[in-house]
Amino acid sequence: MTCSKTLVLGIESSCDETAAALVTGDRRILAQAIASQEEAHAPYGGVVPEIAARAHSERLAPMIAQVLREANVSLAECDAIAATAGPGLIGGVIVGLVTAKALAMASDKPLLAINHLEGHALSPRLSDPTLDFPYALLLVSGGHCQILLVEGVGRYRRLATTIDDALGEAFDKTAKILGLGYPGGPAVERLARTGDPRAVPLPRPLLGSKEPHFSFAGLKSAVLRAHESGRHSPADIAASFQRAAIECLVDRLGMAFREIGPVQALVAAGGVAANGAIRASLEDFAGARSLRFVAPPLALCTDNAAMIAWAGIERMGLGASDPLDIAARPRWPLDPAAEPARGAGVKA
Ligand code: KG4
Ligand code: ZN
Repeated sequence: MTCSKTLVLGIESSCDETAAALVTGDRRILAQAIASQEEAHAPYGGVVPEIAARAHSERLAPMIAQVLREANVSLAECDAIAATAGPGLIGGVIVGLVTAKALAMASDKPLLAINHLEGHALSPRLSDPTLDFPYALLLVSGGHCQILLVEGVGRYRRLATTIDDALGEAFDKTAKILGLGYPGGPAVERLARTGDPRAVPLPRPLLGSKEPHFSFAGLKSAVLRAHESGRHSPADIAASFQRAAIECLVDRLGMAFREIGPVQALVAAGGVAANGAIRASLEDFAGARSLRFVAPPLALCTDNAAMIAWAGIERMGLGASDPLDIAARPRWPLDPAAEPARGAGVKA
């Protein structure tokens, strides 16, 4: 069982962020550190797995020492060690998970192998103690675009997923096409503020289709064609892209809501949920249904270790812990029973 005094060390290393955090059962983040590898990957326009894994292995141990020092606690005072065990870039995941195993073994504490997506899914409950189950979750990140019904800790029903690209991927590719660099999401959002969202005619893939799945590959290709035509400014393309993406999100959410019963709130999580225009539209969507809209603060939206520690605390509340021989998983769906989306894998 967990109590307010529970203290968990969380570790995140599934993509290009190395992170460590100490979180308590009463939702206090005692210390956290995060090192982005943006500069190392920027020349390649995307994350290079080998570079990421090497950077995690150099940075993680000193970072853990740093957060323990900052919070003025010892490993012996922690109740468990939680680390992302997947899904993600396997080299990086292994670095974090093996580090957690070594610390758990050396300190004789339980290990919690956390699904990174579960970290995102439960992160709003770290920042908002009043958020109860069930809630509808829009999980939008660089690797995922899903609508989930979160019924409880470990109980996730996937209502929709993308049949091709994740929305964060579409933001990153749009940024690359427009020469905005990496990571693309924040740069596209900034540029979109200065453009006209009606200037460039772009498709809204799957708009109105009965199943609530997403598709963004065709939108990305249309962005490329619009750019190559030389007829539109980057700002207008960015604004029109963002508008098209938002209309798809809202339409698909509307379709998903036809399938679910009453929920406590609409929750947004994942890196793309840091986007202000997307947040505003989701807030309107929820308001029109007299629903609360909840999104974690920006720093908890993008990859971080506090959400991993918190997912560990939530799972400890159910009496969970994991064996030291648990494997890192490159793929790990939150809802293993979900059928593959029809047309999945088809890239336009
Ligand atoms: O959750 P996250 O940090 O990592 C993954 O698990 O994927 O999400 C990263 C993604 C990237 O694609 C990034 O471009 C996108 O989130 N992102 C944004 C914004 N901030 C980050 N996309 C749109 N607008 C933003 N402000
Ligand atoms: Zn993530």
